[in-house]
Amino acid sequence: EWNDEAARAVIRDYLGEEGPLLPILHALQENFGFIPREAEPLIADMLNITRAEVHGVISFYHDFRRAPAGRHVLKLCRAEACQSMGSEANARRLLDALGLEWGGTTPDGRITVEAVYCLGLCATAPSALFDDEPVGRADAATLEALVAEAA
Ligand code: FES
Repeated sequence: EWNDEAARAVIRDYLGEEGPLLPILHALQENFGFIPREAEPLIADMLNITRAEVHGVISFYHDFRRAPAGRHVLKLCRAEACQSMGSEANARRLLDALGLEWGGTTPDGRITVEAVYCLGLCATAPSALFDDEPVGRADAATLEALVAEAA
């Protein structure tokens, strides 16, 4: 759960460092699991930068979540090697079946599906990470089975 006081303490640790925004965002996500939109002014104020700047950086990187993740997190690779092995069609099918868009979480909080851009597992493309475990040859059936098993 997000907590402004705790967030301030995390941010304080990085003040005075060179280019602290990205390390701070990573630390916040690690501590809270996500960085809510409402936290942008707090971060901007403490770093003396604009809210637009904070917003731009959070939106630009795919690493940052805007809402808490579900109990399971499935990350699907959307980079070139995986695309050439049909990753986009597989992903679309799964997202449609779950009624989700990229980054979305099922209403029961069971699963979040996120995009990643190369996991270094191109040899087994299309690749994915399920709760941080690598999954190779993640075709539509494999993804469906993974999601079906996730409680
Ligand atoms: Fe997907 Fe490298 S492109 S793992």
